[in-house]
Amino acid sequence: MVVDIRDEVAKYYDYWPPPFDDITFYKGHIPSSDAVVLELGCGTGRVLVPLASCCGYIHGLDCSEAMLAICQQKLKRAGISEDKAKIETADMTSFDLGRRFDLIIAPYRVFQNLETEVEIDGLFQCVRKHLSLKGSCILNVFNPNMSPDELRLEWAKGREKFHGEVFIDGRQITYHDRWAKMDPEKLILYPELIFRTYEGDVLKHEEILKVPMRCYYPNEFDKLIVKLGFKVIHRWGGYANEPYGQGEELVIQFIDGECA
Ligand SMILES: C[S@@+](CC[C@H](N)C(=O)[O-])C[C@H]1O[C@@H](n2cnc3c(N)ncnc32)[C@H](O)[C@@H]1O
Repeated sequence: MVVDIRDEVAKYYDYWPPPFDDITFYKGHIPSSDAVVLELGCGTGRVLVPLASCCGYIHGLDCSEAMLAICQQKLKRAGISEDKAKIETADMTSFDLGRRFDLIIAPYRVFQNLETEVEIDGLFQCVRKHLSLKGSCILNVFNPNMSPDELRLEWAKGREKFHGEVFIDGRQITYHDRWAKMDPEKLILYPELIFRTYEGDVLKHEEILKVPMRCYYPNEFDKLIVKLGFKVIHRWGGYANEPYGQGEELVIQFIDGECA
């Protein structure tokens, strides 16, 4: 049985959305109002739910049942029927939906959760199998914005950073991340996302999500996609038209090179 590492923490996800508007960006890249879209790692539906009204159909997959349960509630609340949007539990490195999509996306750095070459190859093979003839895929990672040596030095500090707090039913929930460990060769970061619940000054419980985040530099990310037989058609440095390599994010849109 696969353990859902987000089982206890999925409920916190929507309290701290990303610090950029990628939803408008993805809406703007839906090729037509009847396009069929696939979101890999759709999580709680932060992107999937608002996109559902801008395309013909959107399919979401995620390995976390806890995240998907929240997404399902949102779809229900929004009155979005199964002929407009459907979600399912699946591993984005190995799936076969038996249909093709005009746009495949994996918002908010989902791709960086893949640690191994086998997983990365698996994801690209699945993308190839599911792209329609004129379809494209958009992947995103963060831009490290410092050299590998600086990154190693920074992560060795093991710092913990406070990101914010919310008050729910008289309880305070705080969110922090700790730079727990790193693979210095492969440049894979292992942050711990920490959620603490307080009643008054008393810490009632603490939940920790440990996620791998594999780092990519601007040139490397681009080259990886090309090496796997795809053709890059657009690159951005963020969601507000920042030049590639000069912003906080690396965002690449590509098509299957064999169909180009
Ligand atoms: C940072 S969240 C992003 C969620 C959503 N895309 C968004 O933008 O809000 C990462 C999501 O990727 C999912 N994920 C990570 N590895 C996965 C895999 N191998 N297969 C499917 N989903 C995966 C996680 O369960 C989680 O819901």
